[in-house]
Amino acid sequence: MNNLLKGKKGIIFGALDKKSIAWKVAEKCKDQGAIFILTNAPIALRMGQINKLAEKCNSKVIPADVTSISDLDNLFRESIKSLGGKLDFILHSVGMSPNLRKKKEYGDLNYEWFQKTLDVSAISFHKIMQLAEKNNVLNKWSSILALSYIAAQRTFPFYSDMAEAKSLLESITRSYGYRLGKLNKTRVNTISQSPTITTAGSGIKGFDSFFNFAEKMSPLGNASAEECANYCVFLFSDLSKKITMQNLFHDGGFSNTGISEEIMDELNS
Ligand SMILES: NC(=O)c1ccc[n+]([C@@H]2O[C@H](COP(=O)([O-])OP(=O)(O)OC[C@H]3O[C@@H](n4cnc5c(N)ncnc54)[C@H](O)[C@@H]3O)[C@@H](O)[C@H]2O)c1
Repeated sequence: MNNLLKGKKGIIFGALDKKSIAWKVAEKCKDQGAIFILTNAPIALRMGQINKLAEKCNSKVIPADVTSISDLDNLFRESIKSLGGKLDFILHSVGMSPNLRKKKEYGDLNYEWFQKTLDVSAISFHKIMQLAEKNNVLNKWSSILALSYIAAQRTFPFYSDMAEAKSLLESITRSYGYRLGKLNKTRVNTISQSPTITTAGSGIKGFDSFFNFAEKMSPLGNASAEECANYCVFLFSDLSKKITMQNLFHDGGFSNTGISEEIMDELNS
């Protein structure tokens, strides 16, 4: 299908490099006729390759640390000016845990870093929606999405305090989804994505095992970043107008599989 997002305006958070889920989402949104601002933390703009993506998508890049109210405020004001109108979609594709990065055990978490994990990976989603509401920048029937992981519901060793962040992210989705639905007909959802080989994903200890296990458990196999981007396009489009306050599994069937024949064969060999 073509032009699913024709004329729609948005902001995409979190494209760092070609592997980033947000990078693929930006490419697909462009293909489907959307215009959008790209944003990332100032340090990521220096280290990443976002300018290449911006050129390809004909997008402006506006830096913003997702934890900073003043950065987000500036981002919304500038975006509206640059795009020439209010927003139809926002993608939050942001996650970071200093405890994971610095390999702190779950029983030895640094609590300042724990707060940072929650702020960057979950509370930032609330901040984005609160500032969007206060600045009145959302069109009716706009669509807001964040990316989650099944560790919000079930324990995966080594996912550490990111599990708590994802649970909080999904809870904020329900609470703010209710509010923005009533106020503005805006929908708010999370996509719970399969393990995906990206900078954030590969930074998790044991990631290859997560990835291979999920691949063998899921009847359809793991969902790729590109497939995730297609799902995001659908959720930004008018085809999904009444889907809100949901955590939507995009995982090839992993979340509803008890055990697969492939895993049983491996255990028996
Ligand atoms: N890769 C996976 O296996 C997987 C699976 C499920 C969900 N997710 C989620 O998908 C989202 C995107 O991650 P990804 O896998 O594409 O990795 P990625 O490393 O490409 O993206 C993470 C992004 O977060 C940005 N970021 C970190 N701190 C920030 C800050 N303070 N302000 C603004 N931006 C900041 C980074 O610069 C980066 O662009 C994350 O929420 C992640 O948890 C990933």
